[in-house]
Amino acid sequence: MLILGIETSCDETSVAVVRDGVHVLSNIIASSRKTFERLAGVIPEQAARHQVECMMPVLRDALTQANVTYADLDAIAVTKGPGLLGSLLVGTVASRAIASVHKIPLIGVHHTLGHLSSTWLDGGLFIQDKAAGLRPASFPILTLSASGGHTDLWLRSSHTAGTLLGRTRDDAAGEAFDKGASMLGLPYPGGPSIEKTAKEGKPDAYKFPLPLRNEETFDYSFSGLKTALKYLLRDTPGANIPDVAASYQDGICAHLLDRVERILKSNSSIREFHVVGGVSANARLRELAAALCSRLSHAPLLRVPKTLAYCTDNAAMIAAAGEFVICERGNDAYLPFATEASLPLEATIAAQ
Ligand code: KG4
Ligand code: ZN
Repeated sequence: MLILGIETSCDETSVAVVRDGVHVLSNIIASSRKTFERLAGVIPEQAARHQVECMMPVLRDALTQANVTYADLDAIAVTKGPGLLGSLLVGTVASRAIASVHKIPLIGVHHTLGHLSSTWLDGGLFIQDKAAGLRPASFPILTLSASGGHTDLWLRSSHTAGTLLGRTRDDAAGEAFDKGASMLGLPYPGGPSIEKTAKEGKPDAYKFPLPLRNEETFDYSFSGLKTALKYLLRDTPGANIPDVAASYQDGICAHLLDRVERILKSNSSIREFHVVGGVSANARLRELAAALCSRLSHAPLLRVPKTLAYCTDNAAMIAAAGEFVICERGNDAYLPFATEASLPLEATIAAQ
């Protein structure tokens, strides 16, 4: 199938054309992120105004680059939530208009199901074996989905079915990077700026706590790490910022992977471990995750999104998710949907 994806959940306007949920023919992303670099986050009203301006040119670019017309499309997949309501509405209203005028079936896709689908785009990237080409999906798959809005661990039996094993109780992992960067005086978004600064520092210079280490849970909690950073900066005037950034980054990675290690060790039937969402762009997290998978006796494959553009918000992953929903749910994929700022993924992922 040929699917047009539209994603406008935060500060980006993205439109993509994807064939069979895997082959990306175009993936255009216009972002107003630069505007927010000196602030600690996004201003919703400004983001939505920018999206209204970008929507039509981005749409035209995506169709032109893919060399397709509306008549070639089998379906349109649009992010229905969660996200900033004004931003989401720019995408859903545009997609409803196009679907209605050109008589194309429309699918509302959960944003996080998009991230979960991002590892199939162009076949994904195997960190342990970079030369590997397209490999078919091998379920069950453990997926760590970590962005600025959520941090979830899913054990999936198919593209759209699975069990939520753990979730953050407070901040998302991306938020821990963003708030940490703000404390360190580094620009927004915090993930890339902490990663860049950490390259000049020693990850073992400062010790950060391993949250929830003694609890029988796969949940996450990042508030303790954030507080530890606050007190470290207060109590250590003149602390070497690259050292602090590298140690804090390792603290976040250690917590993310500690839960994963417990699950992978107790379940040798898990064939693949995926990391998706904005935080999956982090090279240190990838390095530590690859080391973990290689250490385990059943050595699950680590698959991450093929490019950095597929880690952060993009429309190609929404088109891929749309394809999988059609394949696994049939006509239910086209049920009417509402645009919603809060939307739990459990409402979309079928229980196993
Ligand atoms: O998935 P995403 O683009 O948007 C949401 O759905 O939230 O994720 C954005 C988040 C931000 O918090 C950003 O700091 C984080 O992903 N991020 C990173 C990196 N690149 C983006 N975190 C760590 N390392 C990175 N290289
Ligand atoms: Zn996202």
